[in-house]
Amino acid sequence: MRHVILIGFMGTGKTTVGEALARRLGCRQVDLDECVVEQAGRSIPDLFETEGEEGFRLRETQVLRELVQRVDGQVLTTGGGVVTQPRNIEIMQASGIVVALFARPETIVERVRGDANRPLLAGDVEERVRKLLQEREGLYDFAPIHIQTDGKTVQEVVEEIIAHPAFVATSV
Ligand code: S3P
Repeated sequence: MRHVILIGFMGTGKTTVGEALARRLGCRQVDLDECVVEQAGRSIPDLFETEGEEGFRLRETQVLRELVQRVDGQVLTTGGGVVTQPRNIEIMQASGIVVALFARPETIVERVRGDANRPLLAGDVEERVRKLLQEREGLYDFAPIHIQTDGKTVQEVVEEIIAHPAFVATSV
């Protein structure tokens, strides 16, 4: 099995969907952010504060490189900003099938509101989400599988991924 890599803006449901997808496929789910935090021994807000976004991105790429080298196919969930680095896109495309999750801005705001673990959304959440969505417009489009998550259950999203022709074609 090749890796299944989930990308998408914050609050599009990558982690929840990734866990359910891994259960369905009978493989492991690994979260890039969690591994970065584990390796650094510090939280994401702490990393952003002490090393800046640049420091976090360097760690993110380093851990991404390590994770995709694992032999067994796994579901890899990523942070929303992984697509801001072209090097990460290259790594992901070379390592498995990439699935992009999408949600309407209102849905995203609803899902991420009150979460203090996302430094890039500090301040006016609604304004931050809209600005970042604008800055990242098109960056998730390279994925061969696009899934709109609004109004769907986690299981529905999982089934939609598995039934997608691009997913079937890679015989994951
Ligand atoms: C980020 C998204 C976060 C995390 C970090 C930066 C981003 O992950 O990697 O706060 O730049 O969009 P989630 O998408 O899981 O919230």
